[in-house]
Amino acid sequence: MQYNFDLLPNRKDTNCFKHDALKTVFNADDITPLWVADMDFEAPDFIRNAVTERARHAVYGYTFFSDEFYKSVIDWMYKRHNYTLKTSWLNVTPGVVTGISVAIMALTNPGDEIIIQSPVYYPFYDLVTSNNRELIINNLCNESGSYKMDISHLKSIITDKTKMIIISNPHNPVGRVWSENELKELVEVCEQNNIMIIADEIHCDITFGSYNYTPIAQISDYARENSITFIAPSKTFNIAGLSTSICSIPSEQLRDKFTTLKNRLHFDTGNVFGTVAFEAAYKYGDEWLNQLLDYLQKSAQMVTNMFAEHLPAVKVSSLEGTYLMWLDFSALNMSDDDLNKLMIDKAKVGLSQGISFGKNGTGFMRMNIGSPRAVIEDSVKRIIEAIKQ
Ligand SMILES: Cc1ncc(COP(=O)(O)O)c(C=O)c1O
Repeated sequence: MQYNFDLLPNRKDTNCFKHDALKTVFNADDITPLWVADMDFEAPDFIRNAVTERARHAVYGYTFFSDEFYKSVIDWMYKRHNYTLKTSWLNVTPGVVTGISVAIMALTNPGDEIIIQSPVYYPFYDLVTSNNRELIINNLCNESGSYKMDISHLKSIITDKTKMIIISNPHNPVGRVWSENELKELVEVCEQNNIMIIADEIHCDITFGSYNYTPIAQISDYARENSITFIAPSKTFNIAGLSTSICSIPSEQLRDKFTTLKNRLHFDTGNVFGTVAFEAAYKYGDEWLNQLLDYLQKSAQMVTNMFAEHLPAVKVSSLEGTYLMWLDFSALNMSDDDLNKLMIDKAKVGLSQGISFGKNGTGFMRMNIGSPRAVIEDSVKRIIEAIKQ
């Protein structure tokens, strides 16, 4: 079956952040929203059918996670990523961010140091500080638009109080898919210093060309026994509003601590629609995802070509994974506020400000390309024209 990603559903008045919160977020409502990380594409037919069929039943009482539910994700991760998971390692959470917060609370103590690598998905900052842990930042190195982990700086900032690192793999917002070697280097440092790893791998299914996702838990025995990995069908299949994600905790000791707190918080029953969507996505999602990846890769190439041809001063990081492109406007020498204003008032687009992902995001913008290509093309044209004026 051929899926059509050129359709633009009308999302207005559905209480969706991306289209319905424009006035609050950008103080404008006549702009194209390319910010928050969901896509404008309809969820695939097999997910809609599963949800509709469940809705027809008309009784929406408490639900649990069936063997088939767990099998769907185990089969998917093995088939797509050669990643072996076991049912006993898995815990369902109502979202990845919630799950990471539980992990921080369960596995560290107030005052412990937790490292994140900036620029990075901005809730990581709040997850650490709002739980009264000490936030330590290891900036990524920007080497002509391609970002690397700064392993020597990482070694230099570790103290006796450093207990955990949170990574994004693939990395939102710089679009890197961390290679096996890079992850090995990171894991070695963690092992030498007894640091736990929180691996947010929510974007793992969205990688392009020869860039393959490496699950950090498969890097070594240490990584497996000292990590919690978060995955979900939410980004991949555009079902984030169904609030169903999963984490894998191979270590019995870490798992006990995590589940003890999870049980205290009592979020151990599922959402009836989230669970059926999750299962359908992982059971039937191959072909849809293959087509989505092809579509997104072409859109990313188009964006890169447009800037290279018409406005080479704007540097576009190569998109190895995610549908979030990282654009460097620093050559324009504008303040972050002025840059944002130009995007809203002149280009009529709503992007995510680079500075919100960390201080070293200044001068950058993140553009979500999970919309029909014509929308992206039109938006990039307006950005280029607005800057050239
Ligand atoms: C790296 C990363 N983690 C987590 C999330 C959100 O996950 P959830 O909605 O399951 O909390 C996002 C959404 O943009 C993300 O990019």
